[in-house]
Amino acid sequence: MATDTLSQAAGIIGAAVPRIDGPLKTTGTARYAVDHDFPGLVHAVAVQAIIGKGRIRSLDASAAEKMPGVLLVLHHGNMNGVYRTFPHQDDATISEVRPPFEDDRIYYWGQFVALVVAETLEQATAGAAAVRIEYETETPDVRTDLSTYTGPRESSWKRGDPDKALASAPVVVDETYSTPVETHNPMEMHGTVAAWDGDALTLYECSQGVVNHRVVMAEVLGIPRENVRVISRFIGSGFGGKLFPWPQSTLAAVSARQLKRPVKLSVDRRMMFSNVGHRPRTQQRIRLGATPDGKLTAIRHDFFTETSMLDDFVEHCGEQTPFLYSCPNLEVTTGMVRRNVGAPAPMRGPGAVPGLFALESAMDELAIKLNMDPLELRLKNDAERDEGTNRPFSSRHLKECYLTGAEKIGWKSRTPEPGSMRRDGKFIGMGLAGASWAAARIPATASVELRPNGRIAVRSATQDIGTGTYTIFAQVMHARTGVPMDRIDVFLGDTSLPEGPMSGGSMVTSAVLPAATSAVNQAISRLLNIATLTQESPFHGAKPDTLTLSEARIHAKDKPASSGIPFEEVIRMADMSGITATGRTSPSWEDPKANQYSLHSFGAHFAEVEWEPEIARLRVSRIFSVFDCGRIINKGAGGNQILGAAVMGLSMALLEETIHDPRTGQPINGNFADYLVATCADLPDLDVTFLDYPDLIVNEYGARGIGEIGMAGVAAAIASATHHATGVRVRELPIRIEDLLQSKILEA
Ligand code: MOS
Repeated sequence: MATDTLSQAAGIIGAAVPRIDGPLKTTGTARYAVDHDFPGLVHAVAVQAIIGKGRIRSLDASAAEKMPGVLLVLHHGNMNGVYRTFPHQDDATISEVRPPFEDDRIYYWGQFVALVVAETLEQATAGAAAVRIEYETETPDVRTDLSTYTGPRESSWKRGDPDKALASAPVVVDETYSTPVETHNPMEMHGTVAAWDGDALTLYECSQGVVNHRVVMAEVLGIPRENVRVISRFIGSGFGGKLFPWPQSTLAAVSARQLKRPVKLSVDRRMMFSNVGHRPRTQQRIRLGATPDGKLTAIRHDFFTETSMLDDFVEHCGEQTPFLYSCPNLEVTTGMVRRNVGAPAPMRGPGAVPGLFALESAMDELAIKLNMDPLELRLKNDAERDEGTNRPFSSRHLKECYLTGAEKIGWKSRTPEPGSMRRDGKFIGMGLAGASWAAARIPATASVELRPNGRIAVRSATQDIGTGTYTIFAQVMHARTGVPMDRIDVFLGDTSLPEGPMSGGSMVTSAVLPAATSAVNQAISRLLNIATLTQESPFHGAKPDTLTLSEARIHAKDKPASSGIPFEEVIRMADMSGITATGRTSPSWEDPKANQYSLHSFGAHFAEVEWEPEIARLRVSRIFSVFDCGRIINKGAGGNQILGAAVMGLSMALLEETIHDPRTGQPINGNFADYLVATCADLPDLDVTFLDYPDLIVNEYGARGIGEIGMAGVAAAIASATHHATGVRVRELPIRIEDLLQSKILEA
């Protein structure tokens, strides 16, 4: 069946098919979570703690309760009916382990301490302002230096004797790299509409994983899973911040249960910086040992990552370190450092993004010490197999990524001395970095219905977080059946659909394609069978295996599609309401063949910066990104994923940092005026190339996954380019003008 799939697919699989949900979004027809409204719906506003650590000495809700329109004030003194659930237990993952209002303790600035529900948003807002709270204040610990940590460290991926190898290495780099707290800021802020019907709850959510969301909320609320339905049909992006439920979901559900009315609760932009996750700060010491001719002999990657007081979130910065390069002696260690901040969360390319900033910056520094081209250093140490797991790679074309990118940017013309390249009176710097991200085939289910009106419905409880998931389902249906794209209906983002995967880890495409394909193949074979069994059918009595479906018509295999009849006619002749089949994707880790391989995508970024010392201006002028992510299913949506990720990487390199006030723990730049993200005016020419080598170990399409990998390595490429232009090595992101004022390269 695999070759059949691919031959029919030739046209549409890979094409830059426009998003089928695009018109719904651009016309404002798509309804996001808090766009939902119901008769009797009331509005909730959360009250936030204004201290970063301590306890509530007293909370007086009496004035708020008397305000016009106020229906309910919830707080730790009257909250009940919620339970704890623990991350990664019972297939349920929650973001913040402590339920809202569990007790009077404050662990971070902005923590929700009360909820006011009123008839209107204005009344709820006024009510929230009238809740009187006195605190016992302690000094929060939001220290940015994580190296004060003395607790246990976890060791992973140890091989050989890295300490001995470092002690005897002729050339050593030993540097520490830091990345700040960065905050996810998808366009759509978090929000929930909760509506009960008796014992049954429907949550309109912005969730990257409706199935997990349902399980968690059932446990938190102490009700059966089948009584919870979670709907997230459209999501204004998430970047990892919407993978797991946050307290606003619990608060909306609890207050709606108590009031017996639908409740809407939005997280505002300021709350986005304290209450719904962030990429935690990291501090990473990298030690590299090498021979004088540039062969790596040792790698130590010892890092700290910050987490909250109660949640054990780890930013796995060392995940790519064991297999990116060939090196006999290696160790990665982790220390988890608690601070008075909200729970961190996965944020685009968790682990790899800060981790590769450090590792790839250190590789650049090693190249300089060796007096060697940084590209040559990468090529010389490229790993032929995964030395961490001792498995071959299913498909790795990293060298070709490097060589293609080098060609595109004109790396040959690069002269190594900092400040040695000029153009139009500006200094030019060029830097590069490698990238990698894990691939897997995660479990998925999808159903396909061939309908008597000539349409196809495909259903799965996964989500489209803006990446094109709706569209790739339709592409696969079109490829298998020839039914036009505008007659294919895709239903996602609803727990009443067959269980689908979380939109996380850049793994949805590789997971859903096999399930959807299996479902449509089964539906087609039932259809052909019914065509032979139905009295009125022109194929009555034929052998099903002599028939096929193409161009939306059933016909004999040895005759053209025009000789047959539209598929829906057979369904109507058979008096059926539709023909439905369900397909499943089995996980790659249960596949003995896939299990023999290391499954990863690879890529390289080449960045060029321009430096104008007279006005201390650094601009990124070009980025070339070359990626080996298996077969690309939609070059439009896929290319946009890498472009968007490169923009986030540029933003990380030059702009983004959430700053906590050391006195109060408040994210003091928690708004879009003070928290800088790259805008169109900051962007250079961006160029994305896909190598497009199908990885048939992962699935029959050869698709691995794209998105997160596009952000990995960008900041290192820019930091190295910056060093090349200015002579200043910045090891603590973001790169600031203040850092560059130290540049000795002053006159062109
Ligand atoms: Mo991603 S950080 O798994 O949304």
